[in-house]
Amino acid sequence: MRIGVLTGGGDCPGLNAVIRAVVRKGAGIYGHEFVGFRDGWKGPIENLTMPLGIAEVRGILPRGGTILGSSRTNPFKVDNGIERITENLATGAVDALIAIGGEDTLGVATKLHEIGVNVVGVPKTIDNDLNATDYTFGFDTAVNIAMEAIDRLHTTAESHHRALIVEVMGRHAGWIALHAGMAGGANVILIPEQPFSLERVCSYVESRFQSHYAPIIVVAEGAVPDGGENATMAKGLDSFGHVRLGGIGEWLAGEIEKATGKEARTTVLGHIQRGGTPSAFDRTLATRFGLHAIDAAHDGAFGEMVALRGTEIVRVPLASATTELKLVKPEMYAEAEVFFG
Ligand code: F6P
Repeated sequence: MRIGVLTGGGDCPGLNAVIRAVVRKGAGIYGHEFVGFRDGWKGPIENLTMPLGIAEVRGILPRGGTILGSSRTNPFKVDNGIERITENLATGAVDALIAIGGEDTLGVATKLHEIGVNVVGVPKTIDNDLNATDYTFGFDTAVNIAMEAIDRLHTTAESHHRALIVEVMGRHAGWIALHAGMAGGANVILIPEQPFSLERVCSYVESRFQSHYAPIIVVAEGAVPDGGENATMAKGLDSFGHVRLGGIGEWLAGEIEKATGKEARTTVLGHIQRGGTPSAFDRTLATRFGLHAIDAAHDGAFGEMVALRGTEIVRVPLASATTELKLVKPEMYAEAEVFFG
């Protein structure tokens, strides 16, 4: 078989480990041929390809980002996007595609499979919000980066008697905030799933100062105050209809200063959470996903996606990647709340 591979959506530590595993087992054990499609769905739409053999995947295991490039191109928003993909796959004699991506990329993969394209999916997102899999790779790395930032901010917060706010990624789900905040000993964690009371946040800040320590507040970019709205950076939507979030940390700092009279500053971790080398957990999970994805393609199990269930990698329908988001449950948030203030 000749198999195309693409990575779509936001980049994520571990993408290269998936690509490497797919090619090493696919070419080395099964004898398949590969072609790399560049920059997500833009690649098969515009026929942007690159060679993808064992030589190309040497040395990429610890590298962040993706050697294939990525984009948030939505073929359904491009003129004749779907027809161009099917034509380019036919012209390039590509029998099957392995699509590595999150909700948006796998949503397109699902629709392509429905019209007869042979697709296998690999779930990816640092947000860990895909319900079909227990964990996505990239999440562990992002949590470790955020935890290290919180550790460092604790010492500077103490020195300056300031409230320090850390804004982390998490559009709809607060997994990064919850795990990093818990691991880093944050005094307040704010997540999109639980609208927060500004008054309560300020009272936690005050009680923390009273104990002669300085508060650290971890806030997910999608968190909202009671009755409020998402803080956004720019007007307009991307091609999958998402707004660009950002600014909740800065807003919170202003409100805390006004209410408590204490200095409050914000650190926005942004893309630092997605960059650089993957953790050991993410390299291993991504490698196992890659091995099982090429097995699925080899077996002709199209329309399926690999997923982690407990410690096993299983196959689930591609459509399950997009049916439901995995959100933080109230009882899990309550565990973190024990440490607030
Ligand atoms: O989906 C992963 C993610 O990192 C989200 O947490 C975040 O909201 C979004 O991507 C940011 O995307 P971009 O880098 O395109 O602004």
